[in-house]
Amino acid sequence: MRQKTVWITGASSGIGMEFARQYAKKGYRLILTARRRERLEALEKELHVPCRIEVCDLSQEEECYRICNQMSDETIDVFINNAGMGAYGSFLETSLEKEITMLHLNDRALHILMKQMLLQMQKRGSGTILNVASSAGLFPGGPYMAAYYASKAYVVSLTRAVSEELRQLRSPVYVCALCPGPVNTEFNAHADVHSALNGISAKCCVREAFRGMKRHKTILVPTLLMRLGCSAQRLLPARLLLPVVAHQQKKKGR
Ligand SMILES: NC(=O)c1ccc[n+]([C@@H]2O[C@H](COP(=O)([O-])OP(=O)(O)OC[C@H]3O[C@@H](n4cnc5c(N)ncnc54)[C@H](OP(=O)(O)O)[C@@H]3O)[C@@H](O)[C@H]2O)c1
Repeated sequence: MRQKTVWITGASSGIGMEFARQYAKKGYRLILTARRRERLEALEKELHVPCRIEVCDLSQEEECYRICNQMSDETIDVFINNAGMGAYGSFLETSLEKEITMLHLNDRALHILMKQMLLQMQKRGSGTILNVASSAGLFPGGPYMAAYYASKAYVVSLTRAVSEELRQLRSPVYVCALCPGPVNTEFNAHADVHSALNGISAKCCVREAFRGMKRHKTILVPTLLMRLGCSAQRLLPARLLLPVVAHQQKKKGR
């Protein structure tokens, strides 16, 4: 039988690295991408499964097309569209350059890669795509992380819509979005945040993702507590909710 292949972006750390570990345990062949080659090579040594390593900077549009081209001869069973970053601070003060890089990575790259993989999987008649969004994407907005919340709302909206199109087509391809709350990874350091809430481990996040995928859910929110929080916030009008989110976010500044 053919060994299954998973492609994971942002596999050099955090949630992506944990997906790599868990898929290796399931016996998958891994395709690992990120910018830090040495991290990916160390992971390959640790995991003892066949790995293909491709270094790329997904904030660059041409790099997104280059990596998709390189994947055109692969049969990818599962695609974990995970690479992402955050940016913290008042919108009046945050770096526009950092925010644009973030939008290019969190949205443009995710979109290009998702489309290329979906076209390939739809043609073949099988496959799974998991877009890593965030619980931030389920809120009406996120003062003091405004652009990040907006970037993740894009991922949630895109995934929901495409999932419905696939359902109407009776497509065998499964598309979902993972929406974790805080997870203890390198994310906060890069976003210049220290989390106001206790984060879950990347291991717990990925375990919950597998549970949701098993049930073919479109929106996967790790942990019951976070699911309850996300459901409860929908009951509040945005004008009441946003000051509460702002208060929480303000605590994240260094
Ligand atoms: N941690 C949280 O609290 C949390 C909560 C909700 C959602 N998320 C989402 O989860 C995903 C993974 O984040 P994480 O928490 O695991 O953070 P992380 O530990 O900082 O990992 C981010 C990964 O993305 C890669 N990456 C960053 N910029 C890149 C670029 N320009 N090109 C290619 N790869 C790039 C990094 O690799 P290199 O630096 O080697 O390129 C790294 O492997 C993100 O989409 C994030 O928004 C995180």
